[in-house]
Amino acid sequence: MKNEYVIGIDIGTSGCKSIIVDNMGEVIASALEEYKLYTPNPGWAEQNPDDWWIAILKTVKQVVKKALIDPISIKGIGLSGQMHGLVALDNNFNIIRPAILWNDQRTYKQCQEIINAVGGQDKLLRYTNNGMLPGYTGGKILWLKEEEPENYQRVKIFLNPKDYIRYKLTGEIATEVSDASGTGLFDVKNRKWNEELLKILDISKELLPKCYESPEITGHLSDDVSFYTGLPKNLPVTGGGGDSVIQTTGTGLIKEGILGTTIGTAGIIAMGLNNFKFNSTGKLQIFCNNAPNKWHIMGVTLSAGGSFQWFKNTLSKYEIEQALINGIDVYKLLDEKVKAESQAGSKNLIFLPYLIGERCPYPDPNAKGVFFGLTLRHTFSDIARAVMEGVIYSFRQVYELIIDMDKSLAVKEIRVSGGGSVSKLWRQIHADIFQLPVKTVSGSKEGGAYGAALVAGVGCKIWNNLEEATQVLKIEAETEPDLKNKEIYEELYEIYKEMYPNLKGLFDKISKI
Ligand code: XUL
Repeated sequence: MKNEYVIGIDIGTSGCKSIIVDNMGEVIASALEEYKLYTPNPGWAEQNPDDWWIAILKTVKQVVKKALIDPISIKGIGLSGQMHGLVALDNNFNIIRPAILWNDQRTYKQCQEIINAVGGQDKLLRYTNNGMLPGYTGGKILWLKEEEPENYQRVKIFLNPKDYIRYKLTGEIATEVSDASGTGLFDVKNRKWNEELLKILDISKELLPKCYESPEITGHLSDDVSFYTGLPKNLPVTGGGGDSVIQTTGTGLIKEGILGTTIGTAGIIAMGLNNFKFNSTGKLQIFCNNAPNKWHIMGVTLSAGGSFQWFKNTLSKYEIEQALINGIDVYKLLDEKVKAESQAGSKNLIFLPYLIGERCPYPDPNAKGVFFGLTLRHTFSDIARAVMEGVIYSFRQVYELIIDMDKSLAVKEIRVSGGGSVSKLWRQIHADIFQLPVKTVSGSKEGGAYGAALVAGVGCKIWNNLEEATQVLKIEAETEPDLKNKEIYEELYEIYKEMYPNLKGLFDKISKI
């Protein structure tokens, strides 16, 4: 088989990543570039879409150079991006204001207005199959209308982050079903904009892009971009996907049966759904899958890797120094130290990981982080281990929400990805708390960019469909659960589950001070 390649691009929150993947699924080049996040007011999170664009041009140019291949054998581009963000463009397709991001909290009032306008949460679920989280795009559109009417009047089109990049690459205005699902305005069951809902909210459909299935070709690379990057002229750009969906796709989970977890800054607990399912509790997110005719269920816990990063930055100054002196990765050093010095259950110390409020299992901006059970005998390593365990208790609670909704979704295996999955200790804790084997697969370190490359490969016919594309994945590490840790984790998990309901009143009180 001759070598063919695809490019996967992920527009993340802290930076963008571009990779080149060959038709055997091997990543042959990768480049990263960071950009800034702005918080002009408390709870706001904004970025300049042109910072994304500059970073993408740089990383694409770099990977094309690094790959040492004839660019003509690159067959397509796939896009992945942070979901829910709002990019507003005027008649000349210029940016009207900075993009409002997924983790921005300004739209609580507008979300309530949307729920009231349709007659309550249950009605909203019938329109979109999802609640209206403050992060979703729908609330942001209303916010712009109410708070910046002069800007709203200038809007020609609203786009999600990766779709702005599609416009810059191809000149085409388009989105695809997985990102559209995260706007809160999309009929996830029928895979199209919900026109009835748009009418109720007085949002013109003309303001939203045409929607494709993820592997479809949505446009071709412009001559300018091909000249600048060295990519072939007219290269097809496929739909791609919202990062949390396409990341799960990139670990091969487009069908039911295996749970996908991601220990990134946030934690994603997700799986593919073979058929549409009604989101009866509204506590989970059910979106369109990147595979046409399939869906995706997930819950997002906001501080997963972010909790451990906080621990490292705040409490591990000595270890950071030691790692620097010895030229080793600080996370590796912490992993070994904690493994040697602590034990399953962290001597009954429990951590609640709600460092920036929570989305799932409790949608509560007031929720806070807590260490419970701290005594004189606890050490640095017990505290570190408790942080890792608390994150996995949170994963387990989200997984239990999924199987409470439908028992048939129970799994026998987990695939973990994201930065935290590199930790052997964290993988063992994950396997022990779930009492299930935890595996990593090739490409999973690359996050959304890898899924985007696979989706692009389907769009440009390297593979016939995503089922075939994901056959290229190889299992890399397998961690079996240790039965002797089952009992301690069961006991502590029961206490963990009681913590939030008992502390809820106090979280609200302390948030008012
Ligand atoms: C998914 C979500 C995040 C963002 C940022 O619902 O909010 O995963 O997509 O990466």
